[in-house]
Amino acid sequence: MASTGSTRFADDVRAGLTRAGQKSLPSKYFYDDVGSALFEVISLLPEYGLTRADQRILWRHATAIVGRISSPLLVAELGSGSGRKTRAILEAVAAREATTYFPIEISPSALARCERELSHLASVRIVGLEREYLDGLREVAAQRGGDSRLLVLFLGSSIGNFERRAAEHLLREVRTTLQPGDALLLGTDLVKPVAQLMAAYDDPLGVTAAFNLNLLARINRELDGEFELHRFEHVARYHPDPCRIEMHLRSCTRQVVRIAKADVVITLEEGETIWTESSHKYQPNDAILMGRRTGFRCAGQWLDEEWPFAESLLIAE
Ligand code: AVI
Repeated sequence: MASTGSTRFADDVRAGLTRAGQKSLPSKYFYDDVGSALFEVISLLPEYGLTRADQRILWRHATAIVGRISSPLLVAELGSGSGRKTRAILEAVAAREATTYFPIEISPSALARCERELSHLASVRIVGLEREYLDGLREVAAQRGGDSRLLVLFLGSSIGNFERRAAEHLLREVRTTLQPGDALLLGTDLVKPVAQLMAAYDDPLGVTAAFNLNLLARINRELDGEFELHRFEHVARYHPDPCRIEMHLRSCTRQVVRIAKADVVITLEEGETIWTESSHKYQPNDAILMGRRTGFRCAGQWLDEEWPFAESLLIAE
């Protein structure tokens, strides 16, 4: 990680663990090499149907989705991950015209995997950007040609990892980088029975627990932290309104932990938790309404029946 990146990581860790009340860590730091690999495994778990639902919709409807946006078309993706779910969209665009794809990703290993996964696609030039979402998107906007349309992909319900107000703020910021007629394809995981959600975020193999605990392991590796992982346990909590699953790390004992490179020593009481992620679940209409409030109109929505999930095509007005 570059020095500015590790300084920001240290600052965010210090801020989240020293604030009064609930301690927290930003979920974006899950995705180092180990975390990205663990997330790939999560997406294969029978209990976690989200990624497969997203892919099913894209495989079935990519041509129809792309057909609603005019040419010439460039594609940018916020948080590309491994790029596997994107292939259907890129193939549908490439069947019509040559294009450039800009995966925007803070995880260098995920970005490299994405570039490998999609490198064989004919008529698709790949320009990877190792950036935060909005920094990357602004760079794409600055590079684009005058007459092209931009399709921004925000798949996998990554928007669900933002608090509701922050999610709308992000969509508004995305809108300001776009021109009228540009498009945003937004994936949202839908509300489903509590037991199904809890199993998805607390799987019996313990992969999600490892994914969560890796955040402390990453702090140990990169910031000389002294977390003893066996003194923490993974907790998934259902929160009904707004509907979300929260992930926490619960301290099994009272403990004092030093994190040298964040210049901090924290005390955790027995049973106290560090809140590491929220994963919001939506009604189908939520994406349309959020889009409307942030400067988009909905040009189509596709749902998966097997694992309730929505893909909404929002056009910048
Ligand atoms: C990336 N994001 C949409 C996943 C989710 O479902 O919120 C991350 C994840 N957390 C636990 N399992 C998967």
